[in-house]
Amino acid sequence: MERAVKARAARALRVRAYAKVNLGLEVLGTRQDGYHELRSLFQTIDLHDDVVIRPRPHGLEVRCDHPDVPLDERNLALRAALELQRHAGIDRGADIAITKRIPVGGGLGGGSSDAAAVLMALDRLWQVGLGPAGLHALARRLGADVPFFLVGGTALGLARGDEVYPMRRQIRCHVVVIDPGRPVSTAAVFARVDQSLTPRENSHTIFRFVSSDLEGLRAFPILVNELEQATLEEAPDLADQVRRIRGILIGEGAVLASLSGSGSSFFGLYDDARRARRAQSALVAAGFRVLRARTVSLDQYRGFWSRSLRGWRGAKGSNQSRSRHHGDHGRQGHSGRGRKAEGLRVDRV
Ligand code: C5P
Repeated sequence: MERAVKARAARALRVRAYAKVNLGLEVLGTRQDGYHELRSLFQTIDLHDDVVIRPRPHGLEVRCDHPDVPLDERNLALRAALELQRHAGIDRGADIAITKRIPVGGGLGGGSSDAAAVLMALDRLWQVGLGPAGLHALARRLGADVPFFLVGGTALGLARGDEVYPMRRQIRCHVVVIDPGRPVSTAAVFARVDQSLTPRENSHTIFRFVSSDLEGLRAFPILVNELEQATLEEAPDLADQVRRIRGILIGEGAVLASLSGSGSSFFGLYDDARRARRAQSALVAAGFRVLRARTVSLDQYRGFWSRSLRGWRGAKGSNQSRSRHHGDHGRQGHSGRGRKAEGLRVDRV
């Protein structure tokens, strides 16, 4: 009996779906497909959802502990599984159980990360063997942020944000995330951007940031999130909170204090843990819900995925996937050097 329970448990693959913040986000214009041309500097952080995937002969089912997450085909993780089924022309099934820790509708990419996690996990469990590079086309059909989560770390997102280029220099620092507990619709925020979007010279803050000497880390203040104004128009009740949150974060020495994506989450970056802790305490004392995290570098992200997928053993102990997960990240395929994360640093990969 005990053995049967163990055997069932061994067949489940448990993975973490990490959150992201946008260190900078520029809206360059509207596109013919109705989306917006973006330039986004993504950063994975170690705040994560837990996703448990259990293969079964047929059928797909998703469960989630958060009441606001739909369980039908609006669920991006379920759609990810359906896309992969269709693409691979297979009829195998899976149970997907999601434990949410990433705030929902907070601009932290939780739904997109869950979807990317399901793609990578089922690619292995169903032995499809596409690997992150091969999954890219499926990921971008699911949503503009999903491809980033096939890569992770510090990365530049171009086009709709779905053309992802890992940065040679990876940022390592402490992150304080504030969750106002109020979802904001990304589509509604972008619709408001259209009303204020005027033809202009492309802004260049992210390019300046990327090409500046990051060792000194003086470049952070030039980064902006150009969605902030539209977000505050869409959710005017946030304006006062954002003003107070930014004041506390900066007052405690944040090198960057910004909205993430289309909000509503706000975050601060710190070069040492003490300052981050002090900021957290001050924000909690002011009545905010605060989460603390660290950045996850490209190497750490790859290492995590490599270990998670390697650890899985199929029903008959089979682990013979044709997957090219190990080391094959397509154009993301740099070899890297791991370094101990301390302070706010940039590492070359
Ligand atoms: O791709 P995703 O479904 O995550 O995007 C949500 C909404 O955000 C889209 O429906 C679109 O209105 C808007 N969006 C955009 N331009 C982008 C990304 C998202 O207009 N580059």
